[in-house]
Amino acid sequence: MSLGVTIAGTGSYLPEKILTNDDLSKFVDTSDEWIVTRTGIKERRIAAEGESTSHLGSKAAEKALEQSGITADELELIIVATITPDTLTPATACYVQQQLGAHKAVAFDISAACSGFLYAMKLAKRLIESGAFSNALIIGAEKLSAFVNWKDRTTCVLFGDGAGAAVLRASKEGEGRILATDIGTDGKQAHLLNIPGGGSACPITIDNADEGLATLAMLGKEVFKHAVIRMKNSANTVIERAGLQTEDISLVIPHQANLRIIDAIARRLDVPNDRVFVNLHKYGNTSAAAIAIALDEAHREGKIKRGDNIVMVAFGAGLTWAAAAIEW
Ligand code: COA
Repeated sequence: MSLGVTIAGTGSYLPEKILTNDDLSKFVDTSDEWIVTRTGIKERRIAAEGESTSHLGSKAAEKALEQSGITADELELIIVATITPDTLTPATACYVQQQLGAHKAVAFDISAACSGFLYAMKLAKRLIESGAFSNALIIGAEKLSAFVNWKDRTTCVLFGDGAGAAVLRASKEGEGRILATDIGTDGKQAHLLNIPGGGSACPITIDNADEGLATLAMLGKEVFKHAVIRMKNSANTVIERAGLQTEDISLVIPHQANLRIIDAIARRLDVPNDRVFVNLHKYGNTSAAAIAIALDEAHREGKIKRGDNIVMVAFGAGLTWAAAAIEW
């Protein structure tokens, strides 16, 4: 009988350069007080020049592979979740494959914004269960600093760069497993959060190049409302599918976008704050990387132990949402 799919290793990588709220207030009309009060973010990381999304992802992946005991050579599948790919084509996963030397692996990207890492987890889990692959490396990696409008204070204060990764394989006797997953999409709300230019709908031309169309645009208040409802529902779905009660969950890892959103979800799920993982004060919103980084940090800080039940839940542009319940 199949024992399911387990997470054999996690890793993360954050660029060295720190951009604090005070740094931001030197070139955009904002303040540390406003950003902390409205979002909980204190600083974010910015990739170095020449450091692209694939580099961030590969560094996180190396750590996850090392912990998993699976070598790059043995990898069969690489899925990179990102909205800030190195190039429109080929996929960022192809560069990662090359950088890791994972020559046997099939590699492709998925675009599901901040929910991307959990979309990748569901997909990889199903592909391993089906017997198509025996292991998978999933990565959430973003260089959002290349796609924010640094003149728009309503968005540029929110985002940061980083990457997280996990190695999945079939579970062995006595190991944990992914208990349940949920993913969803509402394309009617696509206009709430997008990068309008740079694709086939609105190519960047000499005439519109200065309009900042290839940067993130967001209706923050609307996104906020949807985020709370969708994440609460998705978390409840996986808790129910996994046959768990709220009190069985030792840690909730929510998408790291805004502390007020996280608090609202924790209240609605009736989970005390000390069982909710938060690191957004250090990194801001790193989209598809956020949950992956948080999972790795929680794991390495000893906040997740063998046998623990954890719930991850995300929300992002699309609109998309996703959750996973895991027995560690
Ligand atoms: N610094 C100072 N003032 C700012 C500011 C900034 N960085 N950004 C906006 N403001 C101003 C606005 O211009 C507005 O001023 P006004 O009242 O004079 O018009 C005021 O602050 C309030 O703006 P508002 O947009 O109503 O703030 P808010 O409480 O909704 O907070 C967000 C804004 C973006 C922090 C909040 O809506 C949010 O977090 N939304 C969800 C975003 C998100 O998580 N997106 C990613 C999903 S994956």
